[in-house]
Amino acid sequence: MKQRIAVLVSGGGTNLQALLDKEQAGGIPSGEIVLVLSNREGAYALTRARNAGKAAFTVTRKQAGSQEAFEQAICRILEENGIDLIILAGFLAILSRDFTDRWAGRIINIHPSLIPSFCGAGFYGLHVHEAALARGVKVSGATVHYVNEIPDGGEIILQKAVSVLPGDTPETLQKRIMEEAEWILLPEAAEMVCRKLQENGGK
Ligand code: GRF
Repeated sequence: MKQRIAVLVSGGGTNLQALLDKEQAGGIPSGEIVLVLSNREGAYALTRARNAGKAAFTVTRKQAGSQEAFEQAICRILEENGIDLIILAGFLAILSRDFTDRWAGRIINIHPSLIPSFCGAGFYGLHVHEAALARGVKVSGATVHYVNEIPDGGEIILQKAVSVLPGDTPETLQKRIMEEAEWILLPEAAEMVCRKLQENGGK
């Protein structure tokens, strides 16, 4: 049986788009993207989801009123839709240990550096690439990992290195890492994890 995937997003959704395109091309045979959920109203990722014919949900922390209610609302949607795997694709909200324990082995994230460099609290978006350039590394990249209670601390699934080039700005480095690593790695990891879940029913 195909594993039922939910993609959680907060922004533009280019990683979501890479997943949708790969699925469309038959590259995720072990899984099926069932829904997209955003914690930000009006996120462009929701438009991408609808354009691909996927159910699109918004749950904000503010509307929910508390972290607990926020996570409960998300869990309700995931459970009602029989979700097997959660993919965080630029999802910027914090998830508690309760949540990550509940979905252990069934929740993965993409991070735009080679973990354990430039990761953890505060390292998101352009900050990651600013830090990499400030440190003067010559290679960065992307990592897909399981999600646990430690930010960017779960088991690594896939990594891909990308060169830092002279004259790079945080923006140019971000773009190269997306094009050369993130958009390739995340769909690959999605298929790998779905296949594993099919075989073992979990980690
Ligand atoms: C990506 O760089 C991803 O690695 C990070 O957030 C960004 C999301 O971009 N976690 P997008 O919304 O997928 O375009």
